[in-house]
Amino acid sequence: MKKLDHIGIAVKNIDSSIELYRKLLNKDYYKSETVETEGVRTVFFELGESKIELLESIRQDSPIAKFLNKKGEGIHHIAFEVDDIYKEIARLKSEGLHFVSEEPKIGADNKLICFLHPTSTSGTLIELCQSIPK
Ligand code: CO
Repeated sequence: MKKLDHIGIAVKNIDSSIELYRKLLNKDYYKSETVETEGVRTVFFELGESKIELLESIRQDSPIAKFLNKKGEGIHHIAFEVDDIYKEIARLKSEGLHFVSEEPKIGADNKLICFLHPTSTSGTLIELCQSIPK
């Protein structure tokens, strides 16, 4: 585990949330990306070593839509950067933790990502992410 990479925040309307975070952080986002497979539009603001990821659903049946229906807007996940995601998955499995899916997938911001199951982590959805070498 290297550092806290980002905090993911589920929002209903990403455009008004972008305005809010522009005011809060006094800077613009550096990346906007739609991940069709996840049914999500994301925007990243950089703040020092960490980032804020805003997530808006683009489909009724997406994981973010389900989260918003159940819990409303707010923190959706926290993400830790790792050097070798496969090694970390194996290590955490050997510690008895469970994953939503044990196979990493390509997420936003050019990363391999994987989520621990919140029942394993006291209710917080935790993402592991590893930058994909270019
Ligand atoms: Co994330």
